Amino acid sequence: MLTKPHISSRAKTMQASPLRKLAATAEARKKQGIKVHHLNIGQPDLPTASIVYETIHNIGQPTLAYAPSAGLNPTLTAWKNYFQHVGIEFNESEIVVTSGGSEAIIFAMCAVCDNQDEIIVFEPFYTNYNGFATIANVHLQPVPLSITNGFHLPSTEEIEKHINGKTKAILITNPSNPTGTIYSKDELQRIVDLAKKHNLFLMSDEVYREFNFDAEFISVMSFPEIRNQAILLDSCSKRFNVCGARIGVIASHNAEVIHAAFKFGMARLSVATIEQLAVVPLLNSPDEYVKPIVEEFRKRRDVVYETLKTIPGVTYYKPEGAFYIVIGLPVADADDFARWLIEEFEHNKETVLIAPAQGFYATPGKGMNEVRLAFTLNLDELRRSLEIIKFALEAYNKK
Ligand SMILES: Cc1ncc(COP(=O)(O)O)c(C=O)c1O
Repeated sequence: MLTKPHISSRAKTMQASPLRKLAATAEARKKQGIKVHHLNIGQPDLPTASIVYETIHNIGQPTLAYAPSAGLNPTLTAWKNYFQHVGIEFNESEIVVTSGGSEAIIFAMCAVCDNQDEIIVFEPFYTNYNGFATIANVHLQPVPLSITNGFHLPSTEEIEKHINGKTKAILITNPSNPTGTIYSKDELQRIVDLAKKHNLFLMSDEVYREFNFDAEFISVMSFPEIRNQAILLDSCSKRFNVCGARIGVIASHNAEVIHAAFKFGMARLSVATIEQLAVVPLLNSPDEYVKPIVEEFRKRRDVVYETLKTIPGVTYYKPEGAFYIVIGLPVADADDFARWLIEEFEHNKETVLIAPAQGFYATPGKGMNEVRLAFTLNLDELRRSLEIIKFALEAYNKK
């Protein structure tokens, strides 16, 4: 008897966005006339620089052709210039343009791991790393961090416990999504030393590089001893506020890694031609476009930090960078609170959509009372959203 074809176990284990269900509820709530403040997604609300659209209008090529698989020459040179501007030396042959930082991360995982090899990550971590790991068929090995020290790294011995014969790489996000943590020179040195000692690749996702408010940002590329093991993963999305352009990059001094990324790139032919051209002016004059965005997010970070002080029972720290914070709530199950907040609660016909932090942890039971907030609203809306959360916590805990 013929059995029906069935999908792969990889397809079955692929996670759906942990926020999808809540987002659908938010839409339903809006239809009921409730204003929903979105603190759940990392999509900046600011307008994109007009130079992007002007460049697109002026392209004037008669044929919209494939770009070379590693990227268009002007885009590669613009990335090189941008990196030079932030103190990182790469030449064009050490860079492959990717479809967002997302593709860069998938290429990096595929380049260094065989099936079920392991990559060390620090949890809570950017939840899509789970999806990338499923696509690449690699296993993420989480090292738990704690809110009590603002999600900074644990001791070297603690990290080392998670390294085994299958470990191929350490993946750090600096500054971090979801925590806003920026690793100090000492923390980075310890990671670099571990990568050297255990002969691991060190992948560094630095898409929030410029969003550093209090702490100095240091790239892993500034550690010469790791030169041949470091892989930089980067993107225009956040710093230039062009998330929809989908332009990222994988860069490394390791020629084998870049050649592998190039071959993966050949298989998908190329990254969108128009968008590659549209980001060239941004990469060539980063200060002009990045600074105003970062200044706005600094103000927002300050407002969130100050306003959190007025909410009883909340655990928080001062995020040093990016535009997120993970906070502890005075509830047993933040997932349930977030669902109730969007499904049932309102204050003067307004409510808030927040991201339960459980989706950012791989270890079951971790982050149960935590949520992530993204600072993607203006200052007044941020203040109002936090006020609504405060009223909601009072109501929820009286239930
Ligand atoms: C830490 C981190 N890395 C990578 C990405 C991927 O972004 P993109 O594919 O738009 O470059 C994101 C997006 O939110 C992110 O937060």
